[in-house]
Amino acid sequence: MNNSSSGRRKLVVYFIGFTAALAGLLFGLDVGVISGANEFIKRDFGITDQQLEFVVSALLWGAVVGAAGSGFVSARFGRRRTILASAVVFIIGAFACSLAPHENFLIAARFFLGLAVGMASFTAPLYLSEISPQSVRGGMISMYQLMITIGIVVAFASDTWLASYAEIDGVKGGHWRVMLGVIAIPAAIMFFGVLFLPESPRWLCLKGFQQRASDVFRRMHLDEAEIAAEIAAIEDSLKIKQSGLQLLQENANFRRAVGLGIGLQIIQQLTGINVIMYYAPRIFEIAGFGSTLEQMWGTVIVGITNVLATFIAIAFVDKLGRKPIMYAGFVTMGVAMLTVGVLFNIGVENDKSLAYPAIVALLVFIVGFAMSAGPIIWVLCSEIYPLAGRDLGVTFSTCTNWVANAIVGMTFLTLLDKLGAGNTFLLYGGLNVAFIVFFLLLVPETKGVSLERIESNLLSGLPLRRIGR
Ligand code: BGC
Repeated sequence: MNNSSSGRRKLVVYFIGFTAALAGLLFGLDVGVISGANEFIKRDFGITDQQLEFVVSALLWGAVVGAAGSGFVSARFGRRRTILASAVVFIIGAFACSLAPHENFLIAARFFLGLAVGMASFTAPLYLSEISPQSVRGGMISMYQLMITIGIVVAFASDTWLASYAEIDGVKGGHWRVMLGVIAIPAAIMFFGVLFLPESPRWLCLKGFQQRASDVFRRMHLDEAEIAAEIAAIEDSLKIKQSGLQLLQENANFRRAVGLGIGLQIIQQLTGINVIMYYAPRIFEIAGFGSTLEQMWGTVIVGITNVLATFIAIAFVDKLGRKPIMYAGFVTMGVAMLTVGVLFNIGVENDKSLAYPAIVALLVFIVGFAMSAGPIIWVLCSEIYPLAGRDLGVTFSTCTNWVANAIVGMTFLTLLDKLGAGNTFLLYGGLNVAFIVFFLLLVPETKGVSLERIESNLLSGLPLRRIGR
């Protein structure tokens, strides 16, 4: 391949990657925005903490349903149309939230918006894995995670800005409507971008449109020999003519992959990342940072750290591989969380000299997550399933992500209450260390291996740890 066609190929691939990854931006915006809007919503509607919890978690349960439904929708109508549909739901959901006349309407609107978040979190990584050349596949899916983190930090920052603005000129409530409503703008941008995206060539082959699949590869500037090889490999993997459900009933190897995906997503959430994402201001408060604005700025710094460290994964995931980064990340997270726990137990509240080291350790934890579990769990979950069962497999793992996310979110305050902050962090720290064993024993290295190869290894009965060879 000459330089100019390699340049053109890169351009097309990155355009596709960027546009599909916008789904991640919306995911992050919607997840991040609520922490800063909470107080204003509470004041405006005069609701209790419990009602507020419904407002917050409605999105997560909507995401569970959205992710569950996307398996069927994207298998039937294609990945591209599913992403388009999610963009429409994002736009309508954002408007509905910002115009909500009372809390019940807002809860329903957040659930509706959650459907879009679930659809996006299901379809975007799947689409990216199916359309990326294998040499950059890990990086492309990590770009999706990068967008999630950018979405979260933009939401934190805009919340902080709107909050300080409200404090200054005495406007006490209306701004949460702006916070929730502006998300319609990036959703509209994604809708128009996705109109230009090609369908996933693997899905096209699955539906019998080999010619159209070849055209997609041509648009990506692959040469004819490469196209023939890609199509042949995909056809080969389609020889097992089974639906996902049938595979699940009849094929123990597929069930192993499903189990692995579910395990990986539970692990991602049990790292404790969302405890920090959702409750950072509260953690800063316990650490002795009194003012709301101080806490919100602290939260913004957490968000920025999360974005920056994701670049470590993007840079190394296709060079060093998935597993070395995972080991480094989990050791970092484990040590950092245990340190936070110890410092809180010694007594951060009363001794300001301990508060700063505790915050630094918290940021180190974020670095550990963002360079490893954040992106790479999504990468692995989109790589380990055979084509015929990919929709079902990703459905299971993505739904697990949202259910585990909701459970962690719902239990944190109770844990704080029952165990105390220090022991809660020690618990999460211990879990992070224990997860290393899971990676040692069960997780494959998939760097630079085609999806078809992973599939044939899995179905031939190789141990999970070795299906990436
Ligand atoms: C996780 C989210 C988390 C985010 C933080 C994602 O990979 O699935 O639950 O909030 O990373 O960056």
